[in-house]
Amino acid sequence: MTVSLFLLMGSLVAVSASNFNQDFDITYGDGRAKILNNGQLLTLSLDESSGSGVRSKNQYLFGKMDMQLKLVPGDSAGTVTTYYFTSLGSTHDEIDFEFLGNLSGDPYTLSTNLYTQGNGNREQQFYLWFDPTMDFHTYTILWNPQNILYFVDGTPIREFKNLESRGIPFPKSQPMWIYSSLWDAENWATRGGLVKTNWSQAPFTASYRNYGAQACIWSSSSNSSSCSSTSTNNSWLSQSLDTTGQQRMQRFQKNYMIYNYCTDTLRFPLGLPPECSLA
Ligand SMILES: *[C@@H]1O[C@H](CO)[C@@H](O)[C@H](O)[C@H]1NC(C)=O
Ligand SMILES: *[C@@H]1O[C@H](CO)[C@@H](O)[C@H](O)[C@H]1NC(C)=O
Ligand SMILES: *[C@@H]1O[C@H](CO)[C@@H](O)[C@H](O)[C@H]1NC(C)=O
Ligand SMILES: *[C@@H]1O[C@H](CO)[C@@H](O)[C@H](O)[C@H]1NC(C)=O
Repeated sequence: MTVSLFLLMGSLVAVSASNFNQDFDITYGDGRAKILNNGQLLTLSLDESSGSGVRSKNQYLFGKMDMQLKLVPGDSAGTVTTYYFTSLGSTHDEIDFEFLGNLSGDPYTLSTNLYTQGNGNREQQFYLWFDPTMDFHTYTILWNPQNILYFVDGTPIREFKNLESRGIPFPKSQPMWIYSSLWDAENWATRGGLVKTNWSQAPFTASYRNYGAQACIWSSSSNSSSCSSTSTNNSWLSQSLDTTGQQRMQRFQKNYMIYNYCTDTLRFPLGLPPECSLA
């Protein structure tokens, strides 16, 4: 147990079975977001007038959250499908998965980012080893006091360690909502904006299912998050990558990483962000 864990009060841990009706609200899209099959399936769609999106009813302070996504098939250039956590506000914390569409046959880009205290600029981008439009795949954020880990189908793809002791802010006090959305970003998403959205292919649709959270639910009335280790297996709360996990992540990154802010010296002429040399 760490000091930060010790400070969390309460007793309830959510182990949520997937039900989008119970766990999410549709936030926009005027009918373009649909919760189907008794809450088991969520579809988001995008056309020339609007995209669509949902937000979790709860806020969370730490959690291991899985979501299965099946992305917009065919010509998805210009579209962005998201699954992310954010606390909102000018000093927000945020943890992002963003899937940038492409022309038929060209690979999707999985873009990840992370904000602490309102500061982002931490993109790492990857190709995937499968076609993410053919089937559902599981995308996981593990967020605990030691680190933030991103997984695809159980393979660790990115790690952000808690380096607060070295002066680097870490998200640990602002509860976050979970958001998912499908929207148009033809000005930058595909080949840097060279390939525009082909609206004659609309509506574009992405599907979500099997949302699962082992997480600490934030209570704004008691101003605390509830994580107890009494009733549930809370091993995720102290999970980090062991040597084997590190090696798997490095292998993935070697083969599939296409952009890393930590090597972008043109972007950071005054020096790379401090975590890049500490991680
Ligand atoms: C789209 O495909 C092109 C050509 O293969 C590739 O360079 C690009 O990284 C892919 N992804 C995006 C989002 O443009
Ligand atoms: C857009 O989609 C239509 C319908 O499939 C196709 O005929 C057209 O060639 C596409 N336009 C571009 C620029 O790819
Ligand atoms: C909630 O807790 C934070 C951090 O301890 C504190 O700054 C804030 O004033 C509290 N808010 C309420 C409504 O108690
Ligand atoms: C708790 O979960 C972890 C990982 O999911 C597993 O390795 C461990 O065996 C579990 N422990 C118990 C007591 O169930």
